[in-house]
Amino acid sequence: MAESGIRLYYKNVTAEVIGVENGITDAQFDDLVAEFDGRSSKTGPLITELNRQRAAGRTPYRDLPYNTEYPADVKQLVSELAGRCENFVVLGIGGSALGNIALQTALNPYMYNIDDAQRKGRPRLFVFDNVDPVQFGSFLDWVAGRLDRTIFNVISKSGQTVETAAQFMIIRRLLLDKIGSEGLRNQVIATTDATKGILRSISEDAGFRTLIVPEGVGGRFSVLSPVGLFSAAMCGIDIDSLLAGAKDMDKRVRCEEFSRNPAAVIAAINWHYYNRGKNISVMMPYSYALRDLADWYRQLWAESLGKAKGHDDKQVDIGPTPVKALGATDQHSQVQLYREGPNDKLFTFLQVENFNRDLKTGPAPAPAPELGYLAEKDMGVLLNSEKTATEYALLDSQRPCITVFFPEVNARTVGEFIYLFEVATSFTALLFRINAYDQPAVELGKEATFALMGKPGKKDRDLARQIRSLTEVDKKFLV
Ligand code: PA5
Repeated sequence: MAESGIRLYYKNVTAEVIGVENGITDAQFDDLVAEFDGRSSKTGPLITELNRQRAAGRTPYRDLPYNTEYPADVKQLVSELAGRCENFVVLGIGGSALGNIALQTALNPYMYNIDDAQRKGRPRLFVFDNVDPVQFGSFLDWVAGRLDRTIFNVISKSGQTVETAAQFMIIRRLLLDKIGSEGLRNQVIATTDATKGILRSISEDAGFRTLIVPEGVGGRFSVLSPVGLFSAAMCGIDIDSLLAGAKDMDKRVRCEEFSRNPAAVIAAINWHYYNRGKNISVMMPYSYALRDLADWYRQLWAESLGKAKGHDDKQVDIGPTPVKALGATDQHSQVQLYREGPNDKLFTFLQVENFNRDLKTGPAPAPAPELGYLAEKDMGVLLNSEKTATEYALLDSQRPCITVFFPEVNARTVGEFIYLFEVATSFTALLFRINAYDQPAVELGKEATFALMGKPGKKDRDLARQIRSLTEVDKKFLV
């Protein structure tokens, strides 16, 4: 492990710390190791299996950090746009947005969009991952007079995601109305499948420049592809370090020795607790910058691991529920439940050892000597003390906790974290014997939306009728 790398600490799930009823005993750890090294009768050696799947090309996300073409394409576009882009707008949803948001909040200052000095000549970033007319309308009012200085990056792997299509159609009309077809061509860059899909056809027809969503890489595993790299590089994030961090982590998570493989340990602990009724997985960063990584993780975990069918089409109805919380904010909102509510959660803290900056509290006001204990203290020390205090309180209530330590938050450690949790997701899916890379349950909602929005054809008309009869408001139940 690189000295500067992120580290996983898991003593606070052991029976030694939280007792045998809730903690993992040595014998149970041996069972978990057996799941991974193939001694268990249920599964083969899992780390070898995942490495084998990768070699067979079944997990192409694993190779993204090594691809040289994608960052080169991204950098080429960034240099072309330099000096003429004041606003960069991502239109996308799910895996085509959450990674972009997470990179931006983790690696750029809080006031980036507002403060020119903090932005250092880079564009403002806006990521729209919804179809709320009030929110989007407010943005349109602002951007309408700035279109020639605004780049719209429409991201959709499939090209048929209704939310992204609707946003794009509104922007397209606005650009055509205000700056014509050449303006449309200049201001839109599409990130989509290399050969197929509606967005590919639209791009070819309109002459948009494009970036590629790599074949076989699902949205939630795509942040290290042009999907996430482009907006990051436009906003000055060091994408080479991001990818280097992911490569560093790759060395660790392909290691076949369970106890040296942090992704295997995370998966094993989550699986152990899921099987014992602790089926809620709370990720709680003690860092405002890391809060959206917890949101990114929430999608990765939920869409990858929430599955009805396992291998061999077996009905399994499985899935740990990911929850995001933020320290210290949610100590005043959630921790009452976390300590005294049902003991059904595993806590993953994210802790930063060295904040990029720190602030002193200042002297205690004269009428408040009670605040003397807080005088001239570092705010970062306070935040980390609150993390330790919360963890201590949870352990006192026999709640299992793990911590991912960030020596500091930078592109390299964020790259490590992303890769760590992607591979941990793959291992957890192997333990559950499910496919991490599909999302069949999302389809029905998509089809229902198409039908309700008037997609032509008898099948869609019938579906729309069926939906309306089931969901029509029955006044008897309206109070
Ligand atoms: O992880 C996923 O696959 C999804 O969340 C997708 O990213 C999301 O549905 C958007 O899909 P698309 O990129 O095809 O528009």
